[in-house]
Amino acid sequence: MKILSIVGARPNFMKIAPFIKAIEKYNNENGGSIQHILVHTGQHYDIRMSEAFFSALGIPDPDINLEIGSGSHAEQLGYTMIAFEKVLINHNPDWVVVVGDVNATLSCSVIAKRLNIKVCHIEAGLRSGDMSMPEEVNRLVTDTLSDLLLTPDILSSKNLINEGVSATKIHFVGNIMIDTLEANRSIAQNLNIEKIIKENLAKGCRNPGIFPVDKGYSLITLHRPSNVDSETTFVPLINFLTSEVAKNLLLIWPIHPRAKKQLIILGLWDQIKNHPSMIILDPIGYHEMLRLNIGAKIIMTDSGGLQEECCVLGTPCLTLRWNTERPITLREHGGASVLVGNNIERIRKEYYHTLTLERSPSRPELWDGHTAERIIQLLVMQDNNSSTKGPTNN
Ligand code: UD1
Repeated sequence: MKILSIVGARPNFMKIAPFIKAIEKYNNENGGSIQHILVHTGQHYDIRMSEAFFSALGIPDPDINLEIGSGSHAEQLGYTMIAFEKVLINHNPDWVVVVGDVNATLSCSVIAKRLNIKVCHIEAGLRSGDMSMPEEVNRLVTDTLSDLLLTPDILSSKNLINEGVSATKIHFVGNIMIDTLEANRSIAQNLNIEKIIKENLAKGCRNPGIFPVDKGYSLITLHRPSNVDSETTFVPLINFLTSEVAKNLLLIWPIHPRAKKQLIILGLWDQIKNHPSMIILDPIGYHEMLRLNIGAKIIMTDSGGLQEECCVLGTPCLTLRWNTERPITLREHGGASVLVGNNIERIRKEYYHTLTLERSPSRPELWDGHTAERIIQLLVMQDNNSSTKGPTNN
């Protein structure tokens, strides 16, 4: 069986790492019957957003890099499709495996289906119901086209059933991100927080000298266009962070390129980087982020992956969004997060309440560190049951 899998942006790397390890394990035990080709679309290209994750998580270098880079959504989607079509015609895999909901996930599943190649979607069935999110469109298109829909939780399986997807295509396998978390937890645990700060301080940022991290710290990440691209949303949020959050606790912010660009455009970058109790880091590695998460008193984020990690680690989390495609991470489902949107009054109220909460780890069903092995077993089973193969180019 020949499998071609795709990564494009940072959140894909921690999902593909255990998948590749599970293929290696299967091949070792079964005489190498799965051939795997890894394609990177190149949507994320900075060392800190991409390469660093390959080395930290032991992902082999991509066999093919499409080098798509930045651009409008249309440019990213279109250029990926054009380049990926050639790859598929050249390699003719049995399966294209896509993960998550980034632009690469959509582009590559569309082209695979146009060439009549089977698509397997890892992390299928997540729905925010918010069509203004590019990721929601990516999820809907990918799930509509996929032959094998592998869900991380039962709520996602129910979403697919409610949309009329045939139950035979849906398999609840668990959360592959948690495979990576469990495989790397002890490495992260042993990292020194002060060293992480010193080694990753963003260029030009104030070096705080002494890091009172033992007194506790809050952690923030922001990258969604709905939070950072709009001045009317972003400016009040920054004011709240600088005047209230950072007054209470040291605030650590590993900054996404999109957020940094916006701070510079709005003239807020100097204020942020010189704030006496804010520590601005460049994008940090997987283990470093996990370490900061393990030690944080509270996290504020608009990242989907962090919500899931907070759930398992129990870190009290404010999700800076009005909706989530990952409801299983919310407190009402036993998780550690609460939705606060981008209204400052609401954020403030929940922030002070959340500061009083203890860590409360929870483990949704099948978030057990063995999802990738279940996925490989399923693909092998599907392959044994199937006799159709290859692109037809019509
Ligand atoms: C993308 C994904 C999002 C994911 C996020 C994680 C889509 C639609 N969005 O959003 O789902 O949660 O990645 O990071 O696929 N940039 C750099 N260096 C890089 C990569 C990007 O400077 O290595 C800059 C780009 O020039 C661009 C901005 O960051 O201006 C945003 O990058 P882009 O890939 O368009 O989307 P993300 O916001 O990162």
